[in-house]
Amino acid sequence: MYEICLLPGDGVGQEIIPEARRVLENTELPLRFVGAEAGWATFETQGRSVPKETLNTIVDTDATLAGAFASPKHKVKGFFSAIRYLRRELDLYANLRPAKTRPVPGSTQGIDMLMVRENTEGIYVAQERRYGDLAIADAVITKSASRRITRIALEQAKRRDNKLVIIHKANVLPITSGLFLETALEIAKNYPEINTSDLMVDAAATKLVLDPGSFDVLVATNLFGDILSDLIAGLVGGLGLTPSANVGSENAIFEPVHGTAPDIAGQGIANPTGAILSAAMMLEHLGENNHAKLIEQSVDQVLEAGPVTSDLGGTATTREFTDAVIGAMRL
Ligand code: NAI
Ligand code: MG
Repeated sequence: MYEICLLPGDGVGQEIIPEARRVLENTELPLRFVGAEAGWATFETQGRSVPKETLNTIVDTDATLAGAFASPKHKVKGFFSAIRYLRRELDLYANLRPAKTRPVPGSTQGIDMLMVRENTEGIYVAQERRYGDLAIADAVITKSASRRITRIALEQAKRRDNKLVIIHKANVLPITSGLFLETALEIAKNYPEINTSDLMVDAAATKLVLDPGSFDVLVATNLFGDILSDLIAGLVGGLGLTPSANVGSENAIFEPVHGTAPDIAGQGIANPTGAILSAAMMLEHLGENNHAKLIEQSVDQVLEAGPVTSDLGGTATTREFTDAVIGAMRL
């Protein structure tokens, strides 16, 4: 029996996670679901964006499937971002974001890559301060975090096409980004079978658009990894499609790359693919590879034959798309 924590969060998270649950239930694996709360709505009602019980549930269950969590653009006293808090508190240091060409219009051919994003430090430590018209943010890079994220990326590359690109901006930030690059290159020396190179983040952005098929695994610090993974999502058909895993040595949280999509929330039209593929990644993490593969194949079948949601030019609702995926799983 696997115990799964479901953490829908805010906005479209509330619509896509119940649908991903239906897909999981259809595998007929022995799963027990435990619901938990986090995010902006939770902050408003309980005064904390991640209540203690939620943290306990995540720790006590085998894996967590999350939706998305809203954060306001202005500073709100006492509020902290739910997902960033969870990543740091549970030391979910590796954010794995695979992206593949999907059978939808606008998905660039020949893409099969994995962004490995450092998930606990960089400028996302959010140590900001303001002195009148001057604002300062710290970026924290440690040798140990750079080392462990590069190891994960190299191990992933070993199981894929043996290629790794280190993303940095060491020319402008030789101390912080420089330490990341230097450490990553050092670790890569222990993996002579992996073809390792490095690219400045801005040059990487262009190359990702012009020659995405040349990439296999990328490793990046927190902010660069975040930005480039949204760019990569755009290359394969949009933010509705891409899944992710936040993995530490004890716990793991799986979630779509996208956010709460406030512009379409509440209408039942969000694309649940990112959430469903995140559920598949979760099953793979639990060792249920065949079930994970069946889900991914069924999603691709529906993306190809329809019906698809409006972000992909279709008219299907979140529920209708999921029904079709479940139908394809039964074939
Ligand atoms: P977003 O990812 O929510 O939306 C960007 C665009 O993509 C919107 O046009 C949206 O409609 C579309 N989109 C996203 N998911 C979709 C789906 N499943 N189906 C169809 N279209 C989809 O990013 P945005 O608007 O910048 O942020 C909204 C909120 O989400 C903010 O409060 C932000 O802090 C939060 N956020 C949370 C994340 C997380 O919990 N991991 C990640 C990114 C943003
Ligand atoms: Mg993001």
